[in-house]
This record gives sequence, C-alpha cells and structure tokens, in this order.
Amino acid sequence: MSTVLITNIGELTTNVVSPHDTFGTLHDAAVLIEGDRIAWTGASGDAPVHVDEVVDAGGHAVIPGFVDSHSHLVFGGDRAAEFEARMAGQKYAAGGIRSTVAATRGASDDELRARVRGLRDEMLAQGTTTVEIKSGYGLDVATEERLVRLAAEVTDEVTFLGAHVVPPEYSDRADAYVDLVIGEMLDACAPHARWIDVFCETGAFTVPQSRRVLEAGIARGLKPRVHASQLGPGDGVRLAVEVGAASVDHGTYLTDADIAALAASDTVLTLLPGVEFSTRQPYPDARRLIDAGVTVALACDTNPGSSFTSSMPFCIAVAVRDMGMTPAEAIRAATAGGAAALQRDDVGVIAPGTRADLVLLDAPTRVHLAYRPGVPLVKRVWKDGVTAWRKEQRGTVA
Ligand code: NIG
Ligand code: FE
Repeated sequence: MSTVLITNIGELTTNVVSPHDTFGTLHDAAVLIEGDRIAWTGASGDAPVHVDEVVDAGGHAVIPGFVDSHSHLVFGGDRAAEFEARMAGQKYAAGGIRSTVAATRGASDDELRARVRGLRDEMLAQGTTTVEIKSGYGLDVATEERLVRLAAEVTDEVTFLGAHVVPPEYSDRADAYVDLVIGEMLDACAPHARWIDVFCETGAFTVPQSRRVLEAGIARGLKPRVHASQLGPGDGVRLAVEVGAASVDHGTYLTDADIAALAASDTVLTLLPGVEFSTRQPYPDARRLIDAGVTVALACDTNPGSSFTSSMPFCIAVAVRDMGMTPAEAIRAATAGGAAALQRDDVGVIAPGTRADLVLLDAPTRVHLAYRPGVPLVKRVWKDGVTAWRKEQRGTVA
C-alpha cells in the first residue's frame, strides 16, 4: 500500500475531541496516509521517515475534507431572474421549485449528468470531499428515478425527495400525490437511495403527509431526514425528532420547544446559511443552539432557487459573521457535523482508520476561512488518499 506523509503542517485540525481541546488541534504536525486511510497523526518530529511520498505543507493549515450533507445538484436550467427579482424586494416562495421541475423534466440524462458532475467538481475545488445529493426536481416516477440514478453515479449519499412540492398536475390533490410518492415512485427510487426526505412546510407538505412519506421510506429501509421551519415556524422539527431523523435541515424559524426537542435528541440540525443569504431571511442563532446542546452541521443546500452556492468556505464565513459561530465551531459543523448528519464515522475526522480526505489551506490557520471571505484558500485536496484537486501554481506574468 502506498504511503504519503504530509509534514510541516502549521495547524492541523483533527476534530478528535480531548478534554483540553474539543477541536483536536496540533501544531507543527504531520499526517501519514496509507492507501485510502489515515494511518497516523502527530508531531512532525515524530513522523515515520520511510514513506513513498513526502508533501511539505509549508507551515499552512490542514483540516478534514468538508462533508456537505445537503444539496440538490441534479436539475435543469437556473433561476437567476428569480434571484434578481428577490434582490429587488420579491419574497422567496416554495412554488419557484416548479419552474425547475419543468426544466429538469425537459433535460436529457447527459445534460443532467454534466450539471451534477460540474457542480461536484466545483465543490471538490472548494474542499468538499463528501456530498449528499437529493432528487426532487422530477416529481414524476420516470424523472425522479433518473435523478436518483444520476446522483448515485457520483455519491453514495443519495436522498429520494419525491415529496419536495406537489407538482402542477396534482394541484389540489396533494394526498393523491403522496400516494404516488410512497407507492410507485418509492419502488423505482429506493434501490438507488440511502435516505428519504420531505419538505414539511406550508406550501409543501403537511405534518401528516410528511409522516406518511417518512414512514413509507423507513419501511423500505431508507433513513429519514427532513426539510423544516425554512419559511416559518411549524411542527416539522418535532416530527423529525419523533421519527428519529438523522438530520432536520434549515431551522430558520425555530421555537423554544424545537430547540429543547433537538437538544434532547440524536437528530442533527443542519444550518444552511446560503439560504438565508440568498433569500434575505433572518439568520438562525447558532450560538444559542450550540449553547443549548444541539448538534449542528453546516451545508450549502446548493440548488437553483434558494442557495446557488457550492462553497463551504463561503457558508463558514457567513455562519461566523452572522450566526454567532466561532471559526473552529463552523469548521467542525462543516466537517464532523456533516458526518454526524449523514451518520458517518469514517469522514469529518482525521484519525487513524478514517478516510484520507484532507484539505491543505493556502493560509496558516483555519480562522482564515472566515477572516478572508471570498478568497480561494483551498490549495490541495486529498480524497481517499489521492490528490483530487490542486491549485495552479501562481505565476507572475513576465
Ligand atoms: O432546500 N426547501 C426546499 N427545497 C430547496 C429549495 C429549492 C428551490 O427553491 O428550488 C431548499 O431550500
Ligand atoms: Fe434543500
């Protein structure tokens, strides 16, 4: 098995919790990769010397690869005009999803494949090494099946979101649409998916409808996750906790009861700062959530409507600036938090046995991710022990 030693790391964030440092920070550190796994971490001076390749980190920071636990990468078209209108004062509404459904139904497999791969590569270049991808812009049996199948070509973390909104051909017949989702559509999609999701919100699905979707998915061996409290307060968060969802996502409008229920549960709250940013909604108070004992994750929610960013560094910067997280907390939420939201213990942490998914920053500390917003600070990315992306050497034009 080939070995790579990354040495001279100025600041290594491992996320291995210890009594004196919950972020597992090492200075002047090294990481040994063996095959696709981490074999060792420690002080540069103690590192093994007989290795196949040595990478000098130049005193820069290394963090775990980002685990983006919420995205909608398979879609046709875009909604730049809707965004422009919103910035001129229009309100975001769940109904916009239907325009993407029309564009997605009209797109070929190859067009959708190019879109999902392009966005996946864009993510990789920004340090994301694990991504969850949802369906939800097909909303008929054949198109939903195509979306989960195309998503499964690029990730193991595929989510069936047939219950995204009620499609136009079922307007005023939401319960009949739910019957389709939990019947023929689930039959077609379950073989390609690991997760079942539902948008439990006014304008999408009610709590009883959402419960039917989640229970049917669970009965088929899928694990539940929920979109809730994005557009206003509701009972979706408590439904998610009740069904044992791995994660409930958005939480823009949380009540005290929601926070108490989350704190007492194993359900992760996945915050999506790109959504509040591009829908001009208020940011949830992450400080309050963390202090209450809620496990939080950060994700991009990349989609053409509410959040068309694929950048975890951008989401980290916003979470620090506008949600009250410290930079270290935001990075943990974007790595170990995302792993918890996907119930994965092999990613999000740099420790012997975990996947060798690492990001070398073009900066001396992790704080720079929030301190230098908008600057491309990802220098090199390893996924499964292999260099998956590398920043071009900067040169001076003669
Ligand atoms: O996570 N909340 C529902 N779904 C997406 C929005 C999709 C869209 O506007 O196209 C979300 O924000
Ligand atoms: Fe979403």
